[in-house]
Amino acid sequence: MLIAAIELGLRQRTPSMCQIPTYLTQVATGLEKGLSIGVDLGGTNLRVCSVELHGDSTSDILHTQVRIPPELMVAKASHDLFSFIARQIQDFLVKFHLAFIQDAKSDAHDQYFALGFTFSFPVYQSAINSGVLLNWTKGFDIPDTINQDVCQLLQREIDLLELPVRVTALVNDAAGTIISRAYGLPLSRTRPTIGAIFGTGTNGVYLESLSEITKTIDGDYDRSTGKMFMSTEWGSFDNKLSVLPVTPYDTELNEHSVNPGNQMFEKRVSGMFLGELLRLAVLQVYYDDGLGLFRDDTGKSNTDDFNRGAPLHTRWKVDSSILSVAEADNSELLPALREKIHVSFGVPRDSVSVRDAQVVKIIAHAIGTRAARLAGMAVGSVIVQSQLLDETHHVAAGLEATRETIVDVAVDGSVVEHYPGFEQYMRESLRALEQIGVEKESRISIGHAKDGSSVGAAIIALLAAEQVVPNST
Ligand code: GLC
Repeated sequence: MLIAAIELGLRQRTPSMCQIPTYLTQVATGLEKGLSIGVDLGGTNLRVCSVELHGDSTSDILHTQVRIPPELMVAKASHDLFSFIARQIQDFLVKFHLAFIQDAKSDAHDQYFALGFTFSFPVYQSAINSGVLLNWTKGFDIPDTINQDVCQLLQREIDLLELPVRVTALVNDAAGTIISRAYGLPLSRTRPTIGAIFGTGTNGVYLESLSEITKTIDGDYDRSTGKMFMSTEWGSFDNKLSVLPVTPYDTELNEHSVNPGNQMFEKRVSGMFLGELLRLAVLQVYYDDGLGLFRDDTGKSNTDDFNRGAPLHTRWKVDSSILSVAEADNSELLPALREKIHVSFGVPRDSVSVRDAQVVKIIAHAIGTRAARLAGMAVGSVIVQSQLLDETHHVAAGLEATRETIVDVAVDGSVVEHYPGFEQYMRESLRALEQIGVEKESRISIGHAKDGSSVGAAIIALLAAEQVVPNST
């Protein structure tokens, strides 16, 4: 069904799995040269980086990262958020590239930094450097931004600060991840053609043949490769819940989210939701007196302090890191997990028994492996759709076919990075897919591109700066 949704998205603009054209038509070779800026507005953090590419797969990267202030995620006006981003860029440039700014000011030549803006939300792109926001996800809600061109919003704030910076590319984080991994790989290696994010949110981007994309792609783009990376926006796969698993915890989480009925796949897979799913399931066990979870030595229920304000009793207060600790702690007495339960749930230390931790571990494992298997299913569906496992197609596409790897997948995001065994559980799904199976699964490589989205954005900005007239207001 996911494959059918991917195909439908190539034919028409659908509300779910909208298959957004990225205007990116090739992967990086590693030979690119230059200095540019990447800005990544993810779900939790804002990263600014500069990347100097040396043209030999190596680069120098400088970066800063701040947590996005929660009040800006639900600000009244776009200006509040975008001026914050512009100020972070300014601080970054003053810190690391002061001479460039001073030269740009005194220089008569039009000297500027190309900037790639990774804006990891559903945006309908109409050019490599422009796109309007369709809807917010990941807890953001600034109504004013909907239907506005996010590159223009950022450029306006950059211009107000008189920075020598032009937004030359709008980038989805999954696309940035592919390009960043591609740049750093040795020339002889198969380039990644699929990128996936399993972090605060989840999404997949893959290289599709232009001949398969029958809906209209607006504006100008390079048609010479016959391909374009498409952003599946698989987070919204099966919003009608025809095939996705549904537990009472999924239902309750959805009802209390900022976007009920949307991003249903994401709500089962990504970091923003896994901690809340665990909290709801553990709470159910906690209230089930028969199991006596989190009682003190006398079997008495917990203190009022714990009951009232504790994260275990507060929606969205438990982040997904506890699932990784639960999966990683395989010792008999589970000390790391017991400590984490104390910190993350707010349960007093002496009320967390080994047995309690075992219960949490079982539930966390069920939630984490379900997420990873669904993730594998999504990646597998995209691999099947892109037909890259078909070697005839592979050779025809002019890519170097090797026996070792025929498909390379670039991944990034806190869940895939920190949840132990996430990739192995994904691979179980890949093997289970009829069109892939055991033999072909072993020829799929999955590689982590750390901070790929910001670094990739900078690389794409550089490539795009040569192709487009920058968007300056
Ligand atoms: C959300 C966004 C998507 C992004 C993903 C991962 O699903 O809609 O654009 O790629 O999160 O950050």
